[in-house]
Amino acid sequence: MKLRSVRGTHDIFGEKIEKFNRISNIVSTNAHLKDFNEIQTPIFEFSDLFSKPLGEQSDVVLKEMYSFEDRNNEFLTLRPEYTTPMIRAAITNNLLNDLPLKIFGIGPMFRRERPQKGRYRQFNQINFEILGTKDFLADVELILLSNNILRQLLPKSNIRLQINSLGDKKTLINFKKSLTKYFNTHKKKLSEESIKKIDTNPLRILDSKNDEDIEIAKSSPKIYEYLTIEAKKHYENLKSALNLLEINFEENTNLVRGLDYYCNTVFEYKSDNLGSQDTLLGGGRYDGLIKLLGGPDIPGIGWAAGIERIELLMESEKKINSTVHIALTNEKFTDYFLYLQKYLSENRISYYWNYKYNLKKSFTKANISSASHIIIIGENEYNGNFFTIKNLMTGEQKELKLNQVFNHLNDKSR
Ligand code: HAM
Repeated sequence: MKLRSVRGTHDIFGEKIEKFNRISNIVSTNAHLKDFNEIQTPIFEFSDLFSKPLGEQSDVVLKEMYSFEDRNNEFLTLRPEYTTPMIRAAITNNLLNDLPLKIFGIGPMFRRERPQKGRYRQFNQINFEILGTKDFLADVELILLSNNILRQLLPKSNIRLQINSLGDKKTLINFKKSLTKYFNTHKKKLSEESIKKIDTNPLRILDSKNDEDIEIAKSSPKIYEYLTIEAKKHYENLKSALNLLEINFEENTNLVRGLDYYCNTVFEYKSDNLGSQDTLLGGGRYDGLIKLLGGPDIPGIGWAAGIERIELLMESEKKINSTVHIALTNEKFTDYFLYLQKYLSENRISYYWNYKYNLKKSFTKANISSASHIIIIGENEYNGNFFTIKNLMTGEQKELKLNQVFNHLNDKSR
């Protein structure tokens, strides 16, 4: 028998494990800054935990769960997502006494999908949840957090935030009814796959990738017209806050998400560099889910991001070397250079100098090494008692006093 790994699974080692650890570290740092507590749950749960909440007609439940019968006739499932296990853990461990509960987790999920670039059968998710508040500021906090994490991990990638509101239960019941009616009148032009969803899950036709479905969906009823006053207010408040925070977003009225538990705010981050699996992160509100799972009637909201998809984008970003290069243009300034070296060492900033006393050669070396910055010491700098620091990624150049160098190099927006 030829030894092989299971299709859609991967061993993680070398550069990949470095990336994985870097992502985990950045996620944990951001989580602790915002007071989220980590939680780890088992990778399998009773199957019932998933089928109803995720939607009996959802792709995950219909086709993708790894379920098996245990020896004592219990049905178990490898977790396909983290939200329901986290809520289960919050309920069974009595964590819902002090609300809101802010939790996060990182770990493997399992879905039996057709493997392709960015889509695997075992993959890792980062997951954040806030349980117990209806406040739109929780939506803002989670979107801001996702934005910060993705910007830190992917400073150069072009990623787009899309948002939508699915309204409350009443909105969804009315909206689904009118969608079913609309799609029934256009049944002939719909794909086979979408025809099957007309009566069971018409929302999913809205995010079909089939060209004819897309064309028909363009003129379908829009959810916005069905939102209750309260749902509209929530959505408008969210949009104003995002504008205030200068977080760019697009409204996508066809954004419905693949799991059934969502209501009100839904959002996704997409990238054009991921091929057909272009969603990097997705989430939203699930105000009835905690009650459905046997907990109190409290709302919740969260998001999850696929670590492997983040890694794919990290690969396409040029690796930046954090070592700062120094261009000393003449031996006359040696003392001034020593003074800079002492400062850099004391502040634990790694630096490199090529012993060449030549501006051009120093720049060439810095570019080959993908250095982030170069510090220039020449006549002007020496006479004016400053240092010129050039950001080699943006081309921005600044004249700084020695005591400003550390903050400048550590300012991520520089
Ligand atoms: P989801 O959209 O099913 O949401 O998955 C979230 C992210 O997991 C996706 O955007 C993608 O990056 C990654 N992902 C999903 N399936 C795969 C796969 N087969 N291979 C690689 N990556 C994948 C959820 O799971 C919700 N629980 C998110 C959430 C949290 N909603 C509220 N709280």
